[in-house]
Amino acid sequence: MTSEPLVQAALDSRLNAVAPYSNFKVGAALMTPEGKIYTGCNVENATYGLSVCAERVALWKALSEGERSFSRIAVASDRSRPASPCGACRQLLWEFAGDIEVILANPRGHTESHQLAALFPRAFDRGSLAEI
Ligand code: THU
Repeated sequence: MTSEPLVQAALDSRLNAVAPYSNFKVGAALMTPEGKIYTGCNVENATYGLSVCAERVALWKALSEGERSFSRIAVASDRSRPASPCGACRQLLWEFAGDIEVILANPRGHTESHQLAALFPRAFDRGSLAEI
């Protein structure tokens, strides 16, 4: 057990991962400014390519429930150096959540904190589409 509810939610969600191909289980927990938590796990399928990351499941769940503002995300994996979101998830988190805190965790109590802007600098986003 961790004293941090967001990290604990990511660790718990990781246990629901559907990862029979990679055996790499990931859980994510995305928090709104009001403190509501949306969780996700990775879900793989036989085509491999249609598999979806834990972060995106959490993000789609939250957006589909009407949430539009986020403060933090925790991502849990069972590695001594916990996994960091893939490039596609960084893009989507940047576009829908902005410069949130990204907490990486494992079940043995290792956590590290990063800002998304540091993980995903000089991003392409809706601002890039606008005329200067
Ligand atoms: N995966 C995630 O769910 N999130 C990450 O941050 C990294 C990778 C998943 C995708 C795939 O199901 C498995 O981990 C191995 O890449």
